[in-house]
Amino acid sequence: MRLLVTGGAGFIGSNFIRHILTKYKDYKIINLDKLTYAGNLDNLKDVEKNKNYEFVKGDICDAEIVNKLAAKVDVIINFAAETHVDRSIGSPEDFIRTDIFGTYTLLEAAKENKLKFLQISTDEVYGSIEKGSFKENDRLNPSSPYSSSKAGAELLAHSYFVTFGVDVLVTRSSNNYGPYQYPEKLIPVFITNAMEDKSLPIYGDGQQVRDWIYVIDNCEAIDLVLHKGKSGEAYNIGGGNEKTNMYITKKILELTKKPESLINYVKDRPGHDRRYSVDCKKINALGWKPRYDFDKAMKETVQWYRQNKWWWEKIKTGEYKKYYIEHYHERHGLK
Ligand code: NAD
Ligand code: DAU
Repeated sequence: MRLLVTGGAGFIGSNFIRHILTKYKDYKIINLDKLTYAGNLDNLKDVEKNKNYEFVKGDICDAEIVNKLAAKVDVIINFAAETHVDRSIGSPEDFIRTDIFGTYTLLEAAKENKLKFLQISTDEVYGSIEKGSFKENDRLNPSSPYSSSKAGAELLAHSYFVTFGVDVLVTRSSNNYGPYQYPEKLIPVFITNAMEDKSLPIYGDGQQVRDWIYVIDNCEAIDLVLHKGKSGEAYNIGGGNEKTNMYITKKILELTKKPESLINYVKDRPGHDRRYSVDCKKINALGWKPRYDFDKAMKETVQWYRQNKWWWEKIKTGEYKKYYIEHYHERHGLK
C-alpha cells in the first residue's frame, strides 16, 4: 500500500508513520506537511532515512502539490490540521482554512484519483456530554472554532462518499498523550512546566473531564479502520480513561515529584466543554481495544519528557514564548 499521510510531522501523525513503517515493511509513505509551529521534523529523525519514507514540505490547501502526490498513492490519511482549541479562540482563520479548505482540496484529489480517504477527526465534534457516552450516529454539536472546523471537514468528507462514491472513513478519537506532543496541550505543558518548576495553569475549577488515550493505541485503531473499516462510516476511539484535569495535574506532580503549590487556578477557557465521552462498541466489534494501562503509560510518558529535554526545550522558546505572552497569559490572567 502507498500512503499519503498529511500532517505527519505533528504529534499523532509522526507516531502513526513510525507505527506503519515498523509493522508493514512493504508499505510506502509520503508525508506532506507544511511545518507550521506544530510540525517538527525532529519527531521523525529515526525514520528519515527509511527507504519507504519520503517527506514533502507543502500545504494541503495547495491543489497543485496535492494532485501531484495523490497520483502516486492508494490512500490519503489526513492528520493535517490546526489542533489547539485555545489558539482557535484567539485566531480561528487558519482553522477554517486548513481544517476545512485543506480537507476539501484532499477530497478532490481522492475523487479524481479514486483513492481511499481516511479523515482523522475528533471526539470534540459531538460537544460536551454530562452523562453517558456519544455513539457515532449522535448529532454533531461542536463548541469551539476548532471543533466546528473539524466537524465541517468530516461532514464534507461524508458528502464525498454519498455524492461521489469516494471510499471515505472517519475516526473520532479522544484526547491523546505520549511522546512528541507539542507542549501547549495539557499533559506535555504540565509535565514540562513541572520539570522547570513553573506553575501549572488550571482553567476554571479543574473538574472538566477528558478521556485519555495513549497515542500508540490510537495509531493501532487508525491502522485497523484503514484496513477493515466500512466505507462511509465513522468510528469512535476512546481510551477508557476518563479523568478530571485536577486528577491529571496531581498525577503529573506525583510523577515529577513536585509540590502541589505549583498549581495555579486561572481564568477559564471561553466555551469550555465540561466532559467528553465516546461509546467505542463499534470499533471494539471491528477488533480493537486499548492495550496500554493508563498509570504505566503516564509514567513512561513523563520519563520520555525527562529523557528528551533536547526535544522540548528548544520548542519552549521562539514562537511558543511569543504566543504565551501575547495571547495565553493575557486570556488566562497569568503574570
Ligand atoms: P499537531 O498539531 O501536533 O500536528 C498537526 C500537523 O499538521 C503539524 O505537523 C502541522 O505542521 C501540520 N499542518 C498544519 N496545517 C497544515 C497544512 N495546511 N498543510 C499541511 N500540514 C499542515 O496535531 P495532532 O495532535 O497530532 O493531531 C493530528 C490530527 O488528529 C488532527 O487532525 C487533530 O484534529 C486530530 N486529533 C487530535 C487529538 C489529540 O488529542 N491530539 C485527538 C483527536 C483528534
Ligand atoms: O478530545 C480530542 C481533542 O483533545 C483534540 O481534538 C484536540 O486537538 C486536542 O487539543 C484536545 O483538546 P482539549 O481542549 O481537550 O485539549 P487541551 O490539552 O488543550 O486541554 C485539555 C483540558 O485541560 C481542557 O479541559 C482544558 C484544560 N487545560 C488545558 C491547558 C493547555 C488547562 O486546564 N490548562 C492548560 O494549560
